[in-house]
Amino acid sequence: MSRIAYVNGRYLPHALAMVHVEDRGYQFADGVYEVCEVREGRLVDERRHLERLKRSLAEIRIAPPMSPAALGVVMRETLRRNRLRDGLLYLQITRGVARREHAFPPSATKPSLVVTVRASDRAKLDTLAATGIAVVTAKDNRWERVDIKTVGLLPNVLARQNARERGAREAWFVDAGGLVTEGTSSNAWIVTQAGAIVTRPATLGMLKGITRAVVLEVAARQGLSIEERPFSVAEAFKAREAFLTAATQIVMPVIEIDGHKIADGRPGPVARALRRDFHRHAEIS
Ligand code: PDD
Repeated sequence: MSRIAYVNGRYLPHALAMVHVEDRGYQFADGVYEVCEVREGRLVDERRHLERLKRSLAEIRIAPPMSPAALGVVMRETLRRNRLRDGLLYLQITRGVARREHAFPPSATKPSLVVTVRASDRAKLDTLAATGIAVVTAKDNRWERVDIKTVGLLPNVLARQNARERGAREAWFVDAGGLVTEGTSSNAWIVTQAGAIVTRPATLGMLKGITRAVVLEVAARQGLSIEERPFSVAEAFKAREAFLTAATQIVMPVIEIDGHKIADGRPGPVARALRRDFHRHAEIS
């Protein structure tokens, strides 16, 4: 069955799903996006993703192209037309198509909306989580507004490629003070020797991950001690466990950072239990 994409009001075969060359997303990265997990044909945490989308749009002053309810209909219709069971839904809104000029286009310019989905292999991701992944660190050279989920991801792209070339699956950005901010497409966590889970406060130069918010709830329900504070790379090297969270990974154990093994170099029980319980707490609709 061929893939179908939603592009500005039409459901099109994936191969024919195009936006104009003067789309401001293409020319200026002038747009925002969301990625939602799809599980057994249903959206995971749609409400929170749409709330964050609304905030991202407001921060860069793009008017929502439709209501959250209408967006929900488009998202579900895209899932339905692709008969997607497990995978990811990608949604992007840009400031629309206009003659290239840095300042905002005329107010009548319609934002562009694209929704695509793709299947993913849940068993494969679970196998990866059972082994754990390596990460490397990278200087955080991004702009200050990384709390907005913009499509301007060049520093993330370059850091991720560098990670790949060094045999790792993710890069963790590190600020000028040696503190980990977040991954190129994930939030970063450690478990201290005392058993507390530590993650940077979402107010400090990072994206407020939806998976992160749910994992904080799961951790609280499990009775874990939670410290929302920054942690350094040095502290991560000495941690009992490390892991990352994202809609694409859920909870992914990190077993090596910059070539240093974390504890015994195997996924730990805290990350395993958080991963196991995640979908019992997420909103699945
Ligand atoms: N990225 N930090 C960054 C920089 C991200 O790009 C993401 C997600 C996260 C985790 O957020 P969430 O838990 O809401 O997925 C943190 C998506 C998945 C992506 O770009 O593919």
